[in-house]
Order: sequence, then C-alpha cells, then structure tokens
Amino acid sequence: MAKKTVKDLDVKGKKVLVRADFNVPMKDGKITNDNRIQAALPTIQYILEEGGKVIVFSHLGRVKAEEDKEGLSLKPVAERLSELLGKDVTFVAQTRGEELETAISELKDGEILMFENTRFEDVDGKKESKNDSELGKYWASLGDLYVNDAFGTAHRAHASNVGIASNLESAAGFLVEKEINFIGGAVDEPKRPFVAILGGAKVSDKIGVIENLIAKADKVLVGGGMTYTFYEALGKGIGKSLLEADKVDLAKELIEKAGDKLVLPVDSVVAPEFSNDAPTEVVEGDIPEGQMGLDIGPKTVELFEKELAGAKTVVWNGPMGVFEMSNFAKGTSDICEVLAKLEDAVTIIGGGDSATAAQELGFEDDFSHISTGGGASLEYLEGKELPGIAAISDK
Ligand code: 3PG
Repeated sequence: MAKKTVKDLDVKGKKVLVRADFNVPMKDGKITNDNRIQAALPTIQYILEEGGKVIVFSHLGRVKAEEDKEGLSLKPVAERLSELLGKDVTFVAQTRGEELETAISELKDGEILMFENTRFEDVDGKKESKNDSELGKYWASLGDLYVNDAFGTAHRAHASNVGIASNLESAAGFLVEKEINFIGGAVDEPKRPFVAILGGAKVSDKIGVIENLIAKADKVLVGGGMTYTFYEALGKGIGKSLLEADKVDLAKELIEKAGDKLVLPVDSVVAPEFSNDAPTEVVEGDIPEGQMGLDIGPKTVELFEKELAGAKTVVWNGPMGVFEMSNFAKGTSDICEVLAKLEDAVTIIGGGDSATAAQELGFEDDFSHISTGGGASLEYLEGKELPGIAAISDK
C-alpha cells in the first residue's frame, strides 16, 4: 500500500491517537450492533501490545444543537470496547480541556482511554464537520502519532481525520488497510471475470457506482427497487413499482452504454401494497397494473447464478428486494447463498444495507469481506478519492 500503516510506526511509549468509526446503531442507550467496534480491535490491540498509549475517539450520530447530544455519548461504546478488549478503557466525557489533557498525561504504556463524541464540537460552529484548523491542531497536540482506522468516515474531510493527519505523522490502521486492499483491489485490479451486483431502491443513489462499474466489470447485475426505473426506460410495464421518473433518460443511457454487460431481472415478487401482510405472487417481465415489484423472482436468481458461475471477483452493493420484510427477503438471501458457494472467488459486500442484509440473513461468515463503510464504500466503488485516506502519510 502506498500509505503508511500502523506497522510502519514505532508506537512504543508513544501517545497514539486512534480515530475509529464507532458510529454504531443504538437503541435506548444500548448498542444494537457492535461490528464496527469489533472491526477496530486488531489495530487497538496491536498498539497496546507494542507498548503504545491509545487515545481512541470517534463521532456518533449527527449533532447540530446542544439537545442533539442526548443519547449520543460514547460512554456505552467505551464500556463495550472495554468488555471486548478485556481491559479498562478510561472514558473522558470531554472533547477538549484539562480533564482530558490530564488523563492523557497519566496514561501508562499499554493503557487506553476514549474521549467523547467528536461531533459534540459541531454544536459550536460545526468545528469537527467543517474541519476547523484550530481543532485539528489541538487534537493533534494531544498525541505523538495518529492512526486512522475509521474507514466508514473516510469520505468525510473532518477535523478528526483530515485535520489531525495534516498536523501529525499518520498511518492507516489494519481495518482501513483491509478495506483498501479488498475494495480498491477489486475495482482497480480485479481477477476476472469480475461481476458487480447492484441493488437498492434508487438509481439516483447509485449513478456513480453503476457508471464506474459498467466501465470496469465484465457484468453488472441489477436488482432491487431501481430495476423498475430501468424497466420503464425499456418500455416495460411497472405497475405501482418504485419509479424515479427523472432518471429514466439516464437509465436509457446506462442501458445503451452497458450493452449486454447489464443484466436486469426477468421476474419479480409482486404485491399490491408495500406491506408484509399483502398477498404476493411471482410475475415474469412486465409488472401488472395495481402491483409493485418488491423482490427478484426465482428465474432471476437462476439467471444471476449463471452469470456468476466462474466469477473470480464479485462486488455487491444494495439488496435485491425489501429484505426487511420476510416475504421479500428471499431474493437477497438466495444471492447470498449463490455467492457463498462460489469457489475461488473474492466476494465483497460494499457496506450499508447489503451488509446489514447479509448479516441479518445469517451469511456474515460467507464473504471474503463485508465493508464497514456505507457512504464511504459507495464513494470508493464510484472511484472517488476518499479524503480521510488521502490525508494519511505516504510511505
Ligand atoms: C457512516 O455511518 O456512514 C459513517 O459513520 C459516517 O457517518 P455520517 O454519514 O453521519 O458522516
């Protein structure tokens, strides 16, 4: 990798600032999915074992005003991290100030502390999110070295990633390194055949990804709600299915550009209402009046399975149907199964909803890599430079 990694740093006895992405889902003050905390453990453990002092921090949620802070403290994350590490994690309920500075000065080699949600600094002039230069400098002054392991935040240019990295020797953590190797490797130097599977509700969310992957992949399989904007572009009946009327021309252009690289569903699971209680049926081709397509059908799964046979690289972003409702989860789950059975293939899920789907449907261990980034992996798949990564020191 062209960027320094944590192994390029001499962390022994040093105060190492570690930016993680602990923006985890919470309900009633409890963490409902700790994947992102688990994913940051290798970097933290490595620095602690090497005798570094870890100062770890993250954002959580979005904070615009004082009242938004309610329920967005990182304290529950510090407690969970402590359980997972099997060691004390001192939590400092400040993003700057004497208490934090004293706690850092008292850290011994191999000890760790976490400070409060970096976005609490957004209450006063969006200092974190606007990459306020004084804030970046201040945070940098708290440590000797900076390690960025927050892949999920890499598409943001904030004080806690770009700001600190501009002021201190920095390196990527193991998670960032892994994400770059898998996603960057797949998009830039894929083993072929390279098949992309793109789903989700809207074409508009995925324009950049579709364009980039049409240019790079050997096949692009499309599913999910955006199917029906493509159907409309082809003059097919779509009934009451989701339609982005202002994206039909774009869909036409993409169909033309892609030629036979683009593969659309041949059948759909339909229902008259967007509800798990509505009666369902499978229809081929056009969606009848009064019905909406909510999942890909079995013939599409067969078709996609054929297209995927022999693939050496597969990148998947966006579910094939409304997997949150059990009646429309089968398409996504069947595609997970098809990918799980591929031999000799690097299979990557590009974060967000498809990652949640694979995890909730029980396929978590069946992929080569499930990205921890939502927006970040999407932008990476679009071929954009991620500012959080660009700011890390070169080797
Ligand atoms: C994410 O969950 O995608 C990242 O943590 C970034 O969060 P943000 O969209 O609030 O910047």
